[in-house]
Amino acid sequence: MKIAIYPGSFDPITLGHLDIIRRAAACFDRVCVCVSPNAEKRNQMFTPEQKLQLVRTAVADLPNVEAELWPGLLADFAVRHHASAIVRGVRNTTDFEYERTMAATNRRLYPAVVTVMLFTPPDVADISSSTVREVLAFGRSVAEFLPRGIELENYL
Ligand code: COA
Repeated sequence: MKIAIYPGSFDPITLGHLDIIRRAAACFDRVCVCVSPNAEKRNQMFTPEQKLQLVRTAVADLPNVEAELWPGLLADFAVRHHASAIVRGVRNTTDFEYERTMAATNRRLYPAVVTVMLFTPPDVADISSSTVREVLAFGRSVAEFLPRGIELENYL
């Protein structure tokens, strides 16, 4: 069985994240989404439990995808789930440099895991969680950035 993990801070999950999850779910037998509290990121809008609930709502129609909160190292999450791959989305060259360093660190910590990078399609490449938070803070609808069925207004 080929198992992949897809980590992120998901504050909140967006259509960009869901695009990657759907494509990973088509490539691997099982995808475990790792919802990281990511203490390094400031100005978080949603609690870890809310982020997890939003991710679970977004992936409800994908039978081989599950989600879990994980405050520890990603490499340890990969070991725990017997994962052979870490999936990440890449939008641009800035993402690429960041991902390259992260992939190298994870390889040092858990040499059996490979990082697989999927290119984000142009129609969702401009979407980011911080954009969603900013538009939401000004009281505008963010429905077009989010997976169907997710209404962030219920969480505020
Ligand atoms: N399409 C559009 N946008 C995307 C996207 C896609 N496919 N993929 C990511 N994004 C955006 C997100 O919306 C987010 O936007 P923001 O910066 O405005 O909030 C940004 O890209 C990155 O967020 P995300 O993908 O959620 O991941 P992250 O970079 O916040 O996650 C972790 C980082 C959690 C993977 C990393 O910190 C980690 O592994 N932490 C655990 C500790 C550890 O193991 N450290 C050592 C490893 S180096």
